[in-house]
Order: sequence, then C-alpha cells, then structure tokens
Amino acid sequence: MSDLSLTARKIDDVASAKSACCVIPIFSDAPLGDAAKQLDKASGGAIKTALELGDFQGKPGTSCMLPGTLGNKRILLIGCGERKKRDKASARKFCQTTYAALNHTQARDAIIVVDDVTSTTDYSWLLEFLARNLVSAAYRYKETLSKPNEALQLRKAVIRLPAKMSPGDARQALQQGRCTGLGIADAKNLANLPGNICNPSYLAQQARKLGRGNKTLSVSVLDEKKMRELGMHSLLSVSAGSEQPAKLIVMHHKGGKSTQKPYVLVGKGITFDSGGISLKPGAKMDEMKFDMGGAASVFGTMRAITEMALPINVVAIVAAAENMPSGSATRPGDVVTSMAGKTIEILNTDAEGRLVLCDALTYAERFKPEAVIDIATLTGACVVALGSHASGLYANNDALADELLSAGTHSHDRAWRMPLWDDYQNQLKSNFADLANIGGPGGGSITAACFLSHFAKNYAWAHLDIAGSAWDSAPKGATGRPVALLTRYLLEKAGKAV
Ligand code: BES
Ligand code: MN
Ligand code: ZN
Repeated sequence: MSDLSLTARKIDDVASAKSACCVIPIFSDAPLGDAAKQLDKASGGAIKTALELGDFQGKPGTSCMLPGTLGNKRILLIGCGERKKRDKASARKFCQTTYAALNHTQARDAIIVVDDVTSTTDYSWLLEFLARNLVSAAYRYKETLSKPNEALQLRKAVIRLPAKMSPGDARQALQQGRCTGLGIADAKNLANLPGNICNPSYLAQQARKLGRGNKTLSVSVLDEKKMRELGMHSLLSVSAGSEQPAKLIVMHHKGGKSTQKPYVLVGKGITFDSGGISLKPGAKMDEMKFDMGGAASVFGTMRAITEMALPINVVAIVAAAENMPSGSATRPGDVVTSMAGKTIEILNTDAEGRLVLCDALTYAERFKPEAVIDIATLTGACVVALGSHASGLYANNDALADELLSAGTHSHDRAWRMPLWDDYQNQLKSNFADLANIGGPGGGSITAACFLSHFAKNYAWAHLDIAGSAWDSAPKGATGRPVALLTRYLLEKAGKAV
C-alpha cells in the first residue's frame, strides 16, 4: 500500500493512452463525458451498449467492467448517479466505489478520470480524498495471520489532470492525500494489534523507530522511575496492577523555527483496559485492545506530518499504560496526588483514561504550547451520545474548537462540539480529595472532559472523545480516525492546506 504511486497528467485522448484499467465516471441521466465518448468510440460503442442494455445504469455505488480497447486493457465504469445532484457526498462515493472495483481486479496500474464528479470547483479536495482513500483502504492487517488477506494489486494510479487544475496543485493534493492515507494505515495497524504484542514498551519502540527514519523527529521515553520523580502518581496508579511498566512517550517534530510555539497532541494509550479492580464484564472485552486508539491516531498524524515535512513544530505525548487487576492494583477509594498537585479519589478504576491524561496534560505545559489537543477513547457514554459518526469535541477555546470542527468537515472525519459548562463540575466533588474520577450516571462523556479541564487551564485546549469513532465492531477493526482531522488541522496551521 505504501508503494502505490499517484500522479496527475494531462491526457487529451484517453483512448490512445495506455493502462491496465481506465476508470470512467458515468452519470445516470447525462450524456457521456469526453473521456467516455473517446473510449466508447474506440470500443465500437461498448459503453453506450452497456447503458442501452440496462445492465449498468450509472447508479451511485455501482460499477461495470468492460473489455478494453487498444491501449487500455479494461474499461471500468463507475456509477455517479444524477449529474444535477452531484456533490461532495457523491464524489466520495465515486472514490470508494473506484477503490472497491479496482480491488476486485488484478490491474496493476490505472488511469482515473475524475472530471465532473463533484459540483464544486474544488478539485484539490477531490484529489486529496481520492489519494487518501486509495492508500488507506489498501491497508491490510497481516501481523498475526499466517495467511495474510489478499492485498490490492494496484501499484500506479495516474489521475487525468482535471481541466482548469494546475499540475502543481494536483501534485500537492495527491501528495497530501497519500501522506494522510499512510498515517491512517499506520494508526489502524497499531490499534489492531493485540494487547499481548502492543503494550506500552512496544509503543515506545514504535516511536523510536519513527524517530530513526526522520531527521526532524526526536523521541524520548520517560520510564516509571522518571514519572515517579515528576510526581505523576495519577498515571502510575493505572499501571500499578500490570506487569507491563507504563511509558510516557514524547515525539518532537521540529519543522518550524525554534522560536515557534508547538502544537501538542496528547494520546490516550491504554494498550488494554480490563477495567482494573472495577473489572469490566466479559462481553466484547477484547475490544479494549483498541483503548490506545487515541495514541494510534497521534502516531499516525506524526507519520503524516513528518512525511509532508510540515514547517511547524508539533509535540506528541503518548500516555501508555495497561489497566489490569492484581494484588498491586489501585483499589476503588484510593486517593492519589497528580503531577499538578491536585488529589484524586479513584472511585472507579475503569475511569483510567482521565487518570493517565491528566498527568500528560500537566507535562504538556513545559512545551509552552500554542494549543493542546488530547485524543482518547474515553467514555462509553460518548458512544451513546454520538454513535460512531462523530467524535465528541470539547474545548476551552472557541477559535480552536471551530478550527477543529472545520478540519473535520473538510476531511469528512467529523466531530461535534459538546458542552463543558461549569454546571457539570459539581458531579466531580469528593469528600476525600480535590476531585473524584467519576461524575455519576448522567453526562458521562461531559464529566470526563470536565475532569480533564482542571489540568488544561494554562493553554488553549481541546479534547476529542473518540470512543465511538476509533474502531468498528462489525467487521471488527480500527478506523484510523481522527488522523485525517488532525492532519488537516495541522496543514491549515502550517499554511500548506490545498
Ligand atoms: N476505555 C473505556 C471507554 C470505552 C468503553 C470506550 C466502551 C469504548 C467503548 C474507558 O476507560 C472506560 O472504561 N470508561 C468508563 C467510565 C466510567 C467508569 C465512568 C465507561 O465509559 O464506562
Ligand atoms: Mn476504562
Ligand atoms: Zn479506557
């Protein structure tokens, strides 16, 4: 998947071009476009015949493979629905259908015609999405399979340069999409790994590996001894029951001037969440290997922005720990002191994400950040509230919230803002500590965010609750979200977004 080459080229006559497969958009209610006409002529009317016979009607999500002509070994028609109804959603559908149809072939290279599939003039958006989708969809989990799933055969895609688009813009859009796609694939892979392989030390190794391949990326890992010295007793209370030591992983991408304040990403990296002494029920507990989805998205975003060599500074902090029950585990009712000095009564050891994040958020202060964004599979309540389509967004800064919302809309990796009102703070009162780690039955995603807000008072901060968006249950697998949102946000910040 990483070896898929993506280029854009002006092609006047697709019928005389050479490819293993020429991909053509077809509308259900409009005359053939110029590329379709050229291929129709070269194939003795094969496209018109397919439409006349009614076998292929150009409906969205459908495709039809026809035998090729002189230069193109196959002609792949992609249904785009009614031309007058075309929009960004139908253009995304075109990209997904193109991938799915190519995935069923043995074609190793393709020409893809995209003219007219979107009503917007924003072909940069389209090319970015197409490239991102081809690269990220081609990801296959193989790590623990003796017979890996069949991979996409495609190695080279040439996009016919849309009229009115400059070659430079096309190249940039494809490059950004490709890098984002690689980041998404990385995030999916890390999150899909089982907890017995992907533990906190494994994540630390992966960070070091990413650092070795990049001159701009420096990596450091804090072990438990160092964290104890810093007073991170909240974070350490989570790993207390596990044989696996916690790690605080710091990756620093120095793409900007040393005087520029960094954007800081903080990822929840619970490599397995059993709930601890407040043990979870057995059903679907395996899915708690995905409880490092926030960390995975931070890794994926760092991959994307280092590949793009973004000219900004970005610090990634991954709070990695395993939440297990044992004789050394934290008990419900225990009180710990966080790095910020606030004491916390741990009423439920299954509300562990906020316990690791609060110390990571305090640690983030030393980077004098421009903004801090944490990403966490934090609460089941967020899944109840928003389902899987939107990540929950909380922020103590409206401009930051708006920028993240719009990055999510642009990349179709959407978030929805939730309230952080003081009214909810009462639910976190404790008789025995400054804060309780749970807020009672109502508004569980909100009270979790309120808890975090106490540790994020000294900078612009946003929190993404990705409990519903980080993975799918059927078929089971990580989604790589919200790498696209975060990458888009950072591209905008770097002034490089196409
Ligand atoms: N990792 C879970 C949240 C989660 C649960 C994500 C289900 C996705 C699906 C988190 O650590 C957790 O256990 N949260 C508790 C909090 C509660 C004890 C206040 C929850 O959501 O039940
Ligand atoms: Mn938990
Ligand atoms: Zn958790």
